[in-house]
Amino acid sequence: MARRRLVYEGKAKILYEGPEPGTLIQHFKDDATAFNAEKRDVIEGKGVLNNRISEHIMSGLNSIGVPTHFIKRLNMREQLVRACEIIPLEVVVRNVAAGSLSKRLGIEEGTALPRPIIEFYYKDDKLGDPMVTEEHILAFNWASQQDVDDIIALALRVNDFLAGMMLGVGIRLVDFKIECGRIYEGDFQRIVVADEISPDSCRLWDLRTGRKLDKDVFRRDLGSLTDAYAEVASRLGIMPRGG
Ligand code: C5P
Repeated sequence: MARRRLVYEGKAKILYEGPEPGTLIQHFKDDATAFNAEKRDVIEGKGVLNNRISEHIMSGLNSIGVPTHFIKRLNMREQLVRACEIIPLEVVVRNVAAGSLSKRLGIEEGTALPRPIIEFYYKDDKLGDPMVTEEHILAFNWASQQDVDDIIALALRVNDFLAGMMLGVGIRLVDFKIECGRIYEGDFQRIVVADEISPDSCRLWDLRTGRKLDKDVFRRDLGSLTDAYAEVASRLGIMPRGG
């Protein structure tokens, strides 16, 4: 068997060279990390669940014309994606106060926000992904004004789609993070949603009970992470429970 060329290894995923130029294979690992990798564990089956859930969300976005890097799922742990130039920002959209927003501003977790709030964080592990404003993004040339406008529009479309998808299965979309990338098509550049969208990168609360169905289960030691993710997959009709 030929060895594939490793392009990048992150905390939860590996990227390999894809079969065609301009493609990559995105492999989902079972590693879980939190608090900038201060807390870490290997949770068997997490990668398989995230691969399936991210496939479901990304292909849904593609189908309504929100561009993503996702092409198709290849197997239990891998998907084929378009290679893109990752913009070094984590884009967080919040509908309900939780996590770092609650901590920073003293707003009680669970408080509905009057409008979705978008935040940017500069992707740098050594610096602990600090929050930045548009001013920093433009001053340090991480993205152009046009890029920022496109990213905000994309993030809000993802929010509307994902909030509706989750509401339909009795889940409240509290917040989520996306990463964006540039794809060059001839003279044009397009911003696409890259990376993954999964319970690792969202806060998802059961609408009725408030039960957490996301990575906070790991961050806050609230029980079985795979049970929570399997619950999300099963409600979305992706994987039967125990399957
Ligand atoms: O921790 P904080 O409240 O800022 O997180 C907001 C959202 O972004 C959460 O859904 C969290 O899972 C996600 N996030 C992420 N990766 C990070 C930081 C936050 O997926 N590095």
